[in-house]
Amino acid sequence: MDGEFVPWDEATVHVLSHGLHYGTGVFEGIRAYETPTGTAVFRLTEHMERLHRSAKAYGIPLRFGVDELVKASRQLLVDNELESGYLRPLAFYGLGSIGLNPAGAEVRVIIAAWQWGAYLGEDGLKNGIRTQVSSWRRIDQAMLNPNAKGTGGYLNSILAKQDAVKNSYDEAILLNSQGFVSEGSGENIFVIKNGVVTTPPVTAGILEGITRDSVMTLLRDDGHQVQEANVIRSDLYYADEIFFTGTAAEVTPVREVDDRPVGDGRPGPVTRKAQDLFQKAVTGRLEAYRHWLDYV
Ligand SMILES: Cc1ncc(COP(=O)(O)O)c(C=O)c1O
Repeated sequence: MDGEFVPWDEATVHVLSHGLHYGTGVFEGIRAYETPTGTAVFRLTEHMERLHRSAKAYGIPLRFGVDELVKASRQLLVDNELESGYLRPLAFYGLGSIGLNPAGAEVRVIIAAWQWGAYLGEDGLKNGIRTQVSSWRRIDQAMLNPNAKGTGGYLNSILAKQDAVKNSYDEAILLNSQGFVSEGSGENIFVIKNGVVTTPPVTAGILEGITRDSVMTLLRDDGHQVQEANVIRSDLYYADEIFFTGTAAEVTPVREVDDRPVGDGRPGPVTRKAQDLFQKAVTGRLEAYRHWLDYV
């Protein structure tokens, strides 16, 4: 926390922290995995670079460089004796200003680490999840920065997620303001039809996911045709396969959209392949992608 290692109970902030009132913060989600040669963090530098980009987008000056954040993350895993786990870096405006202009408030930077299992459930990873196209639209680039992980923007994801769960679905799919498919509440989306793998482009208002990039690379290198192109709602209904990607969700199959089965309602071969390649890559079992791992 702000450059110090702090016990859990002492990692507290003041109730008048700017970020608590107005969502003036940026964050990351990162996973560390057990590999045959020790604990490794998946694409750690890229995550910290994205944190810096998000901070730039929202005008939040960070006093820790990417290298310092990388080093602190490694140490945090060691100190917490975590062989695998989830890292949550967060930078936010703290005390010093309670008006809307955050200038004058100090910028706080924390990284937390804990053990976190399958975000959408073990059964979800195995058999797929049920989704609903949300009545909420994804934040638009004329209003916020969708391709930045700003804390305030997540109110939008939370509205969609809460509705989906209240309606007995596992996850929401958000369309953008033009009606094109954007992404899940905290995941990117992939649609497979006749062997072609399609994922919405950055201009569809997505967060440019690091898992998305990894899976596109893994599938392309495995000989699949992968494209970034706009996806419409009926593409979801006609798809052979759909899956989500994200640090928390990893590669999670989607077995239903709006009560319609995806394909035959079971995870298909491309989804299974993506899951298998991703799991092997993150756990150091694919030599060609070892450069994605930051060994602790
Ligand atoms: C809105 C949103 N989209 C996509 C993703 C997936 O990004 P990544 O694969 O980098 O975790 C996340 C998770 O960080 C997210 O919150």
